[in-house]
Amino acid sequence: MTNVFLWGVATSAFQMEGSPYADWTSWDSKLNSQPDITHHYQLYHKDLNLLKELGVNAYRFSLEWSRVQPEEDRWDEEAIRHYQDIIHILHQGHIEPMVTLHHFTHPRWFIKKYPWHEDQSVQKFLVYVEKVVSTFRGIRYWITFNEPYILLLGGYLDGCMPPGMRDISAYAQAFRNVLTAHGRAYDLIHSLTPCAWVSVAHNMAAFAPYNGWNLLDRFLSRIAQSYYNRSLLEALRTGLLKIRFPLIKKVEMDLPIKGKLDFLGVNYYTRIHLRFNPFRPMGLELKYEDRDGHGLTDMGWEIHPRGMARALREASRFHLPMIVTENGIATRDSQKKMKFIKSHVDTLENCLRGGMDIRGYFYWSLMDNYEWLKGLEAQFGLYSVDYETLERKPTPAAAFYSYLIKSRSHF
Ligand code: BGC
Repeated sequence: MTNVFLWGVATSAFQMEGSPYADWTSWDSKLNSQPDITHHYQLYHKDLNLLKELGVNAYRFSLEWSRVQPEEDRWDEEAIRHYQDIIHILHQGHIEPMVTLHHFTHPRWFIKKYPWHEDQSVQKFLVYVEKVVSTFRGIRYWITFNEPYILLLGGYLDGCMPPGMRDISAYAQAFRNVLTAHGRAYDLIHSLTPCAWVSVAHNMAAFAPYNGWNLLDRFLSRIAQSYYNRSLLEALRTGLLKIRFPLIKKVEMDLPIKGKLDFLGVNYYTRIHLRFNPFRPMGLELKYEDRDGHGLTDMGWEIHPRGMARALREASRFHLPMIVTENGIATRDSQKKMKFIKSHVDTLENCLRGGMDIRGYFYWSLMDNYEWLKGLEAQFGLYSVDYETLERKPTPAAAFYSYLIKSRSHF
């Protein structure tokens, strides 16, 4: 681990380059009516140059598992070379790669035969991890799973992500398997690269009661805070996974995951207000409110920089170095984008001054890309993409981010 503060941008493979073999390709039928999203797979040389233009010293990206292993018994050597080339270019440019092994998508064969609630899933995932980690030597930063909690909620409680289930028992099994897979991947990475730093990128939100005077809203907000933000990290700290659905299910499982984090990856985007509503599942209604006048993003999310400090304060209870592995805004308004970045970087600076151990910040995202469930409408990029000509154009926020990085080189 170098002591240099990591200033980076984050992307994920599927969102930039799709994949004919991924579960998500058939899951999102809208994808067929949208422009081809695979362009970055061919244009990656050009896109990696944008990193130099920005002046970042780190780049978080993911490997698309379904491209690397399109069938259970077949590796695609060309795809492996492709990612190897990306890593080579980054190293040559003195840009630190942070590699995400799993960012929401799976090969179709995996989700069909060994979805996460099946115990064999762990072993199947590890075969892929071993292949790539032993091939891509010399990578220091690894993220095993991006937002494991979102993967589990989306795949097993809300049903909006593959495998599209709403089943509490399957959710509990999948939770156990995903965390076990993380723990075993952690060991495997360390056995192959002893100096590696391994984590998950954990999505954290700021929660608040919709009505401050309402005891039920306050109760829900406390529960969300502890369940959504804390429980996964607690499980990784103690090795004990506790899953509780009041009156429905309560399980505790000892897992081989205790202490298997070298740093804490935190993805922070917004604040969520919670309201008790007896007509909603579990009485829970989620609201995005513009309470402080910073506005809402094109995702409808509240812009709430102070919430990032709260999330980091919460995360610092785990006494690990922290890296903001994602933070960003979807908007077509460049002024708003720049204000968002500035206010969050200022917050970060205050946190550092207050003594928090933060080692990096990654803006989401390098360029506009495919946004889960939203398609191409949401524009998170520092660079915009014209999907007709595939031209990448810097938004004013690109130069602004470069300037911020230079002006905060003391971090
Ligand atoms: C995910 C990204 C996503 C971003 C914006 C994060 O939760 O990791 O894949 O694009 O949020 O929604």
